[in-house]
Amino acid sequence: MTRTLFDWDAGEPLTPEEERMIDELEAKLRPPALPMAPYPPKAITLASGEVMVVRQASTDEVDTMLRIIEPVMWLKRDFFDIVAARLFGELLAWKLHRVRNEYCLVGVVDGELAGIVNGRLVDEKHGMSYHTLTLKRGLRVGAHLFASKMEHHIEFLGQDEVWIVAESPIGHRRWMIEYPLEEKFDVQHELGGAPSWVLTRETYFKAKERLVSGTRPVPEELLARSWPIREPDLRVMLVQVEDLLESRI
Ligand SMILES: CC(C)(COP(=O)(O)OP(=O)(O)OC[C@H]1O[C@@H](n2cnc3c(N)ncnc32)[C@H](O)[C@@H]1OP(=O)(O)O)[C@@H](O)C(=O)NCCC(=O)NCCS
Repeated sequence: MTRTLFDWDAGEPLTPEEERMIDELEAKLRPPALPMAPYPPKAITLASGEVMVVRQASTDEVDTMLRIIEPVMWLKRDFFDIVAARLFGELLAWKLHRVRNEYCLVGVVDGELAGIVNGRLVDEKHGMSYHTLTLKRGLRVGAHLFASKMEHHIEFLGQDEVWIVAESPIGHRRWMIEYPLEEKFDVQHELGGAPSWVLTRETYFKAKERLVSGTRPVPEELLARSWPIREPDLRVMLVQVEDLLESRI
């Protein structure tokens, strides 16, 4: 089917020449992209006994994820607000082709979104870790997803190192202390220009047995249940936002 763009000011369809110019401009606005290996899905049994499927998300799922994380942007606890707000922008940029080489992995428990991680390739050998956001707390969902993200960079994308920052004390404890990461303070991280920390291949393989879990392949039926993503019950997590809204009434 041919696409017809409309000029709302003139009240008539665009001419073929106008359509061609829009396509050319769009191509100029898009950053170039490197080919990226896919992340093979895996299944992790959480401390609760529930099974979390970790798989690659697609840009078709971005709108659903944005709707789910939008209220979290108002959660003024443990830096959920800034992380959700920045992640919102990064996912939108990914969908609209305004960021270079981004990927996103999701943790899904029984169809419900338990957490999100994302990052991008700076070049073939260097990765930029963006965010980790847990929507189902108390089960190390974020720790498992961060480990999956490091697994992706080092084992599937074949990178030498990943540049990382923490935006919260919990993040600092989970990444800098647990791995542990090394300082790479001469590199400004894309998240606000904070001094970077680095995960090298050596650090990753030393930490792998302790921190990277999951089994492959994921049984077909279990994997199929990770689509479509559904909203988790965020009531407990967001109770503080409700208090805030009520106090404004
Ligand atoms: C950092 C983060 C990804 C870690 O995720 P996680 O491994 O799933 O860990 P949780 O958030 O469930 O728990 C972290 C700590 O919070 C506390 N906690 C657990 N459940 C909690 C809950 N329901 N409410 C409040 N605090 C809770 C515990 O002290 C826990 O510490 P411990 O497990 O080390 O003893 C997650 O806390 C998060 O999304 N934070 C907000 C965004 C952020 O900071 N991202 C990282 C940016 S670098």
